[in-house]
Order: sequence, then structure tokens, then C-alpha cells
Amino acid sequence: MDDNNKDTSEEYDEILDIETDKEFDTKIDEIQRRQIDTKRIKKIDQSKKRAAIESVFDERTIFTLSKLLRNGPLERVEGIISAGKEANIYLAYDLYGKEVALKIYKIDSNTSKWMRNYIIGDPRFKKIPHNISKVIFLWASKEYKNLKRAYKVGLKVPNPLRIKDNILIMEYIGFGSIPAPLLKDIKSPKEPISLMNEILTFIKDLYQKAKLVHGDLSEFNILYHNQKPVIIDISQAVSIHHPKAEVYLVRDIKNIFKYFEKLGIETPDPKDFYYEVIKTDN
Ligand SMILES: Nc1ncnc2c1ncn2[C@@H]1O[C@H](COP(=O)(O)OP(=O)(O)OP(=O)(O)O)[C@@H](O)[C@H]1O
Ligand SMILES: [Mg+2]
Repeated sequence: MDDNNKDTSEEYDEILDIETDKEFDTKIDEIQRRQIDTKRIKKIDQSKKRAAIESVFDERTIFTLSKLLRNGPLERVEGIISAGKEANIYLAYDLYGKEVALKIYKIDSNTSKWMRNYIIGDPRFKKIPHNISKVIFLWASKEYKNLKRAYKVGLKVPNPLRIKDNILIMEYIGFGSIPAPLLKDIKSPKEPISLMNEILTFIKDLYQKAKLVHGDLSEFNILYHNQKPVIIDISQAVSIHHPKAEVYLVRDIKNIFKYFEKLGIETPDPKDFYYEVIKTDN
């Protein structure tokens, strides 16, 4: 790996104190629930390719991507899995022919504006990036670090493999070219009670072991793979010491309980569960 091709997350360590986390919050609702219901991977034909390029591939992103293709770890980019407002997800292959997922954040001034708003005025940020792309890179690196932190303690999230500017490479969740469906699209999960318990254990372990609160947990950000949940989209996650961590935790719990209640599953008492989650907080 040459110098130009190394992870960029360290560059942001100075700016982003991931241990204490920061006020990346009020706009969380805006980045969620904008799901494109793409159940099948679409091969990119020429016209789709152009549209995808126009929406996410600015010149610099193309440059970054071409470096990842030239110097590894990518072999080729296959097709788009999901097109969202802030990021697109692609299926790609690594040098060993294994599928990987690419999350490419768009370098967009509006997105960067609201991201910046979280950063400005927060004393925990030593330096505030001035340019649009740096703010986006910071956000992407935050998702990488949050994933790493969760993955390291054994939680079911995609393994983050590499971050380079606005391109996050992570483990692909799916079978062959068919990505795993979102939980929201599963009419009747096979073993709903154990599924619920696994998600509740995730919330608890994320809090107690990774010291994070997801902040946008719902059936829209859970993949259903091999009848098991895999939690995604963790860029907005906050440290348990974040002033709003409790509010987010309560919301995450409510979302999950609501989903299972709709399936007719009896859920634990939310208050009891909340206290169970936070009990080892120190
Ligand atoms: N590692 C992965 N493997 C397979 N599919 C994935 C992976 N990560 C994300 N996806 C798919 O891409 C979609 C969007 O990913 P994610 O939720 O991380 O992005 P987002 O920021 O919420 O994007 P959007 O703006 O579309 O809401 C997911 O709903 C899922 O279908
Ligand atoms: Mg999402």
C-alpha cells in the first residue's frame, strides 16, 4: 500500500475525537429513511452508468476510486445497490474476487453545510474543516470508525475494510450479486422472537461494549441475512457520553419495539429494557 493509498481515517483523528463523540445530531432524521427499495442489484448499463456517475462521481471521487482500483484493494465495480441523497452503495469485487460494498458519499455543498453545522461550535472539534469535501470525508471516516468499534467487539455489522476520502469499503452482506434485504421488506421473519432478542442484544452490546448508541436504528437500517440481523448505517452513532445519547437510545428502542409489535410479538417493558441497557454505564 503506498502512502497515497492508505486509510484516511487517521487524518481526521485530530479533528474527530471519536472517544467522546460530538454534536453530530439534529439532522439525523434527514439522513435516515431515505431508502431506495432496491432489492436486486442492477447491472450498470451505459445509460445507468452515466446517471450514477453524474449523481455521485465528481472528478475527485473518480480519481480516488481509480486509485483504489489501480492500487487495490478493488478489482472492479459491478453495479449500484442503493442510491440515496447523501450516499450511493455499490457492489464491487476485491482482488480475490470477493464481493465488497462501497459506500460513496456525495461531495455536496448542502450535505456538507448541515454536517458542518454539527461541528461548528462544538468545543470537542479542535479543527473545523473549511472545505466541503473535507467535511464529507470527516463524516465518512466517522462511519468507518463507528463500524470498526462495533465490529471489534463482535457485533453484527459489516466489517469496515478501508476508508479513502469519501469512499468507504466494507464487507458486503448478501448472496452472490443479490444484496441482503432490509428488515422492513421482510413480511414475516422466520423466528421473530429470537430475531428481536438478537437486535435487543445488539443495542445492549453496542452500548455496553462499544460505548455507542446507533441513533438511527430501525427496520430501515437492519439487513436480514441468513435469518439474522446485520446492522448498517452507523455514521450518526454517538458515544454513550454524548448529551443526546439517552434520547437516541430511547428512540432506537421504541423503533424496534414498534416493528416487532406490528408483527404481533410481545415486547419487554421498554423502561425495563432501557435500564438494562444502561446499567453498566460508568
Ligand atoms: N454492506 C452492505 N452490504 C449490502 N448492502 C448494503 C450494505 N450497506 C448498505 N447496503 C444497502 O444500501 C442501502 C443504503 O445504505 P445505508 O443505509 O448505509 O445508506 P444511507 O446513508 O441510509 O443511504 P440513503 O441515503 O439511501 O438512506 C441499505 O439500505 C442497504 O440496502
Ligand atoms: Mg440507511
